[in-house]
Amino acid sequence: MSLFLVFEGIDGAGKSTQVETLAARLEGLGRVVRRLVEPTDGPAGREIRQRARHGPPLGAQEELDLFLRDRRTNVETNVRPALAQGEVVIQDRYYFSTAAYQPTRPELGLSPADVVALHSEWAPLPDAVLWLDLPVEAGLARVERRGAGDAFEREDRQRAVRENFQALAAETPCFVAIDASQPAEAVAAAVWAAVEPLLAGSTS
Ligand code: TYD
Repeated sequence: MSLFLVFEGIDGAGKSTQVETLAARLEGLGRVVRRLVEPTDGPAGREIRQRARHGPPLGAQEELDLFLRDRRTNVETNVRPALAQGEVVIQDRYYFSTAAYQPTRPELGLSPADVVALHSEWAPLPDAVLWLDLPVEAGLARVERRGAGDAFEREDRQRAVRENFQALAAETPCFVAIDASQPAEAVAAAVWAAVEPLLAGSTS
């Protein structure tokens, strides 16, 4: 049986490490795992990264449209086919990121719930959203160590993003809050504690 697992969190939450650890663990159990990332490396995803790094900055509506276009393609060409094959999809970011990040631009005039609603007709609901939550300062410290620095990473914005994730977690039953300020091994253990029960009756 297929499983759709999504990692979410502010920048520097440690998603990529946890994706790798979880994928290896599931593969060790003989499951076929499809790792996906949004924004993708398709045309819309590339445009988003390019404009975030090198400008000129995207308008709020333009940015939302690109994330939605990127996601529609990802859902149709990657997510749905993998789930139909009974694979485990582990995806780094999904529409909860759009709902957490894009409403931080007031000119968009949309709440996180409004952005979720834009997906209700076509985006499959994950079996679990593994929300790696940690204080903004801790996330930014990790991002800075990585040497990254783009328009997405300013502190006040990250704070608003975290608050939006908190609101989304409160109203989305499949959200699992994980304390990502712990060492990576402890985070991985908490992720596994959330995922393992979902495997019962879900053999490939
Ligand atoms: P990326 O370099 O992939 O960041 P990370 O490694 O932290 O995931 O850039 C993705 C950035 O795009 C990240 O800051 C979050 C943001 N984002 C949105 O604003 N909306 C979205 O819908 C998605 C998927 C990402």
